[in-house]
Parts: sequence; structure tokens; C-alpha cells
Amino acid sequence: MSFEVNTIREHFPALSLKDEGKQRIYLDNPGGTQVPRHVLRRMENYLINTNANHAGMFRTSVESDKVLEEAHQGMADLLNAKTADEIVFGANMTTLTFAVSRSIGRLLNRGDSILLTQMDHDGNIGPWLHLAEDLGLDVKWLKFNTETYEYDLNEAASLLSENDIKLAAINYASNCTGTINDVKSITEMAHRSEAMVFVDAVQYVPHGPTDVQDLGCDLLVCSPYKFFGPHQGVLWGKSELLGKLEAYKVRPADNVSPGKFETGTQSHEGQAGTLGVIEYLEWVGDTMGTDFQGNFPECSGRRKKLHAAMSAIQQYEQFLSSRLIEGLQKLDGVEIRGISMQDDLSRRVPTVSFTVKNKNPQTIAQKLADENIFVWHGHNYALEAIQLMKLEDSGGVVRIGPVHYNTVEEIDLTLDVLKTCL
Ligand SMILES: Cc1ncc(COP(=O)(O)O)c(C=O)c1O
Repeated sequence: MSFEVNTIREHFPALSLKDEGKQRIYLDNPGGTQVPRHVLRRMENYLINTNANHAGMFRTSVESDKVLEEAHQGMADLLNAKTADEIVFGANMTTLTFAVSRSIGRLLNRGDSILLTQMDHDGNIGPWLHLAEDLGLDVKWLKFNTETYEYDLNEAASLLSENDIKLAAINYASNCTGTINDVKSITEMAHRSEAMVFVDAVQYVPHGPTDVQDLGCDLLVCSPYKFFGPHQGVLWGKSELLGKLEAYKVRPADNVSPGKFETGTQSHEGQAGTLGVIEYLEWVGDTMGTDFQGNFPECSGRRKKLHAAMSAIQQYEQFLSSRLIEGLQKLDGVEIRGISMQDDLSRRVPTVSFTVKNKNPQTIAQKLADENIFVWHGHNYALEAIQLMKLEDSGGVVRIGPVHYNTVEEIDLTLDVLKTCL
């Protein structure tokens, strides 16, 4: 079965909402996505039937803990983690990164180096800069080419081999340029120098199959609210490393992962909702991903279906990217700030940032908002990338971010409105 976007849309109540007769067009997805009914049902059911704190002897607590275990297992399946104990839930990616960076700091010494990138969202920069300041670490920067919007892997290799780098914090897909990076190769290079690799996958997980075994990295973070779930963050780490890291925790909390990293009482309804996303994606895999299931011979059961779902989504989104980029290229004065050759679209997610000559990005975002079309503008926390592209003083970029529930009609309508802004 091919990708049935109208069937997909029926699962998302927010997508049919109108304001003053105007349909909402959600192209703000890199900032956060809408949720399917599977998520709403799970959250409602949790709060009505099993709402309780952790580790009690009584019915609601026992059932609540079962939901939390299932949510950890669900995320392990989505990311192809070895065990559910490798999955740590938290408030969001940024909070988890701040917390784990402190634990990693205990393994580092004054004078050690860390590698950061100029393509990352500040969630994968700020925590490490604070750590560097506190511990006296040396920060090395990997820039990207502002014409190809990709890293130079030779530069990455030489940075990683010539410096005493202990940690590389890199991004999988950029929330600004949309580039998908070769995380696997960079990880191999880093490991040759015995550096640990921390991957920000917040903008990749919504758009493609994520396999931490294949990537080979040590830690990876993502945010369920960017892939159709509630406001939550998830950290995955290799068991051995999570075991070794000392957590900043209260004394009665567990001494093992994930409990030692999940400080205080978690958002149980958030974890229930995340389990709802896994169930939704399993449904996508079952109904629209059958053609892709054979691509994952090493996976079975739900893992296979989840990977197949994400492959079906990826293929459909490339069609949307292609339409969007082709349309933008026809508009006078528009410059796409990311990979835009039709043959290269598999190396990007559909998040497309662009500038318009002599127009402020905020003005364009406002004009689209007036038509009930939701897009982002500015730096979108990718401060380094915006500075490297010298766009800070001109207000950054306009960012259009479709996901698998958007339609080609929505893209065309957005392009029509954009024409009137030039
Ligand atoms: C690439 C990337 N990393 C990190 C973050 C921060 O995520 P969170 O809001 O979960 O802290 C975002 C949010 O937009 C992002 O796009």
C-alpha cells in the first residue's frame, strides 16, 4: 500500500481545525508536532485509570509502573537500543543534556578537549560550553561549508586525530539547514581517537529510521514532542557507559539506569503518551510500511514495523521536500539555506530554511500567519549556524518544516501565499 496521507490525517484531530473559516496549515513542525489519537487515548487512560507515583504495592502504582516500563521498551524499539534500561526519560532534550553533561564531566580533566559543531542547535552546545568553562576544557569547533551545507569529513578527521578530544557532541539532522550528517563516519573517527560521541537526533528521529547500533555512537538524545508525542525528552546511552556515569541524584533514588538519571517524579502521562506514539508508528508500519519491512532483516516484530514506518515516512517526505524546494527556487529573490539539488534530497530532512532578498523573515512569517499558515523565523536556536551564514543581523531565516501529515496541497498553498510576499 502506498502512503495514504488522508488516512494518516484522520488520526490527528488538530489537523482539521479551522480559525475564522481558514484551515490551519502546520508547517511549524521542527518546533513541535501535533499528536495522533493513540497519544491522546494513552494519556487520558493513564490519568483516569492508573495515575500514581512509582513503586507502590497498590493497583494504580503497579499499573502505572507497567506503563512506564512499556514506554521505555517502546523507545528502545524505536531507536533499536539493546535494552529498555538504556532509555532515560526527562523533561526535554536540553534538560537531559545539561544533566548528563555534568555526569560526563566527572570523567574529564582540566585541559581535555571537546568537539562541538557550528551546525548544532544550542541544546547541544550550551551545556558543553558551561561544562568547558567549569572544568577548564578546550573547545574545538567543526564548521560546515556554507555552500554545500555539509561538514568536511577531512576536517572532522583532522580535528579528531590531532587533538586530545575526549567527547564529540554532534548533530544528526540540522534544525536550520536540514542537512542529515554522516554520524556513523564521524563516530568511527572519534572512536579511533577514543573520544565519546554524543548525538543530538532531535531533528532526525521524526523523519527516518534511527538505529543506534548501526550509528555506533555512545549517547543519543531526542524529543518525543517533535515526533508526534507529548512534551518529553529521551536519552539513550550504551549500558556500559550509563553504568559508569555517576548520576546527580538523591540518595533514595535507584543506583542503576534509568532510575538514577530520572530525577524526581517524571511526567508519567508524558511517558504514556510516548507509548501512544510508538503504537501509532507501529500502525503506520503495519498499514503503509510493508514494502520497507524487508529492508530491516536484522530486526523483528515491532522494531521491524517501526523502522518500516519511518522509511515510508521518509520516502513520502522526500516528495514534499522536492515540491517545496522546486517551488521556492521559482520565487524571485529566494535563497534556500540548505541542500537543494533534487538528486541530493536524501541527504536532508524536509525542514527548509530560506531568506528573501531585502525582506525580513519575521515579516514573511507574519504574512503566512495571517493566512493561518504556521512557520518559524529567526535563528531557531541554531545560533552558530546563523552566525556562520552571516544572517544574524538580517533576522535569520524563514523555516518551513513539513512532516508526514502535511499534504502537497498545503505546500502549494504556502508557495502561493509566499508569492504575494515578494
Ligand atoms: C536539533 C535540536 N536539538 C535540540 C532541541 C531542543 O530540544 P528540547 O526542546 O527537547 O530541549 C531542538 C529543539 O528545537 C532541536 O531542534
